[in-house]
Amino acid sequence: MEKYVINGGRELFGEVTISGAKNAAASILPGTLLVEGICRIRNVPDIHDVRLTLDILDSLGVTHRHIDRSVLEIDCRRIESHAVPAELGVRMRASHFFLGALLARTGDASSPLPGGCDLGKRPIDQHLKGFEAMGAAVQLYDNYIRVTIPEGKKLHGADICFDMVTVGATMNLMLAAALADGDTMLRNAAREPHIVDLAGFINAMGGDISGAGTDTITIHGVSSMHGGEYSLIPDQIEAGTYMAAAAAAGGSVKICNVIPEHLSCIADVLKDMNVSVKEGDGSVQVTRNGRLKSTDIITAAYPGFPTDMQPQIGALMCLADGSSSIYEAVWTDRFRYLEELRRMGALSDINGQHAVIRGGELNGASLTACDLRAGAAMIIAALAARGRTEIRNVRLIERGYQDIVGKLSKLGADIHAE
Ligand code: EPU
Repeated sequence: MEKYVINGGRELFGEVTISGAKNAAASILPGTLLVEGICRIRNVPDIHDVRLTLDILDSLGVTHRHIDRSVLEIDCRRIESHAVPAELGVRMRASHFFLGALLARTGDASSPLPGGCDLGKRPIDQHLKGFEAMGAAVQLYDNYIRVTIPEGKKLHGADICFDMVTVGATMNLMLAAALADGDTMLRNAAREPHIVDLAGFINAMGGDISGAGTDTITIHGVSSMHGGEYSLIPDQIEAGTYMAAAAAAGGSVKICNVIPEHLSCIADVLKDMNVSVKEGDGSVQVTRNGRLKSTDIITAAYPGFPTDMQPQIGALMCLADGSSSIYEAVWTDRFRYLEELRRMGALSDINGQHAVIRGGELNGASLTACDLRAGAAMIIAALAARGRTEIRNVRLIERGYQDIVGKLSKLGADIHAE
């Protein structure tokens, strides 16, 4: 499908079920390469990035089968290739996790420089610094990265302190260290829920990781890992996106299959904007009380306000009474959606990583999604806008949201794909 068409102004009611976490799948599916056995992974989201990850696993000679839409069996007893094909790897950021997992299992891994959403500079120096500290040699050539362990040697444990909090490098080095000789310490580690999930997966398959969820993670390398079963956590950002959708459109929506604790800082911002959020057992009920009020946010690593919810909240700010501000502290270029929302009448001043938004009424317009969360923000704005909005380039949205059109339609939104 090419575009979504949304007629705004319908309140949302009912229940929506959240799928498994995209950014947990991003490291755990490559992480099955650590395991000389069969992994059964539950709660896997049916999204484009997962399909691409499975294509990469296939290209390495690994076999997989779907037990049902959200349950996968991956058999990594045999690996035939150590190289992620360029045409697949460049299409997503998370392809770099194949480096950590393949290096750990085979001592030799190559992958193209990763692609993914264009959010400004996205270096991977911290990943490479960690591989080197563990004894790997890193070569860069023709936009390709190769990491190898010298003949006759193994990766060894190391004490690694990151220069900044990085989710990707924390997870990549957890993968690399899982089968290394000795202990690895990751200091200034990221604490996101999907990092705890990756540790849970590795431990379920016979690995030994402690401290995930704090800023110091210890990985005791084991000689091999066995098959087993693991269920991914629900997607914090998909849940937050439906919370923002309910706040924009009005009405009352129960968001099911969530871990409310992961949503608390998103709930706090919504409450500040005059939206009620009631925690249930594995669910949150989101109800808009009246007009949205302005607020201010600063993005940060977990448990701070997630950058991946910044555009969705930015869309709400475009509808709120008064002036709101955003400081985007993680990415250098994550306000392009605000420029696109100007077509709907949204008012914003952008200065580097700082934006000031003056809220008001929005009108339907023709928009183009510029990245995954920007596309989600455009849907949220369109649900509340007067008239018809068309959003093009929706393949970017489908990278990370399972069946967003079906889920919103079930809540009463007037949305369809063409
Ligand atoms: N950074 C470096 N060097 C590195 C790694 C990171 O300078 O080696 C910098 C980045 O440039 C950025 C900051 O550190 O300024 C944080 O980057 P991080 O490594 O945490 O981000 P990531 O692993 O590339 C993941 C998610 C992003 C999410 C960020 C932050 C995946 C596939 N992507 O990216 O998700 O924004 O963490 O939480 O897990 C999304 O889902 O829409 C998305 C973009």
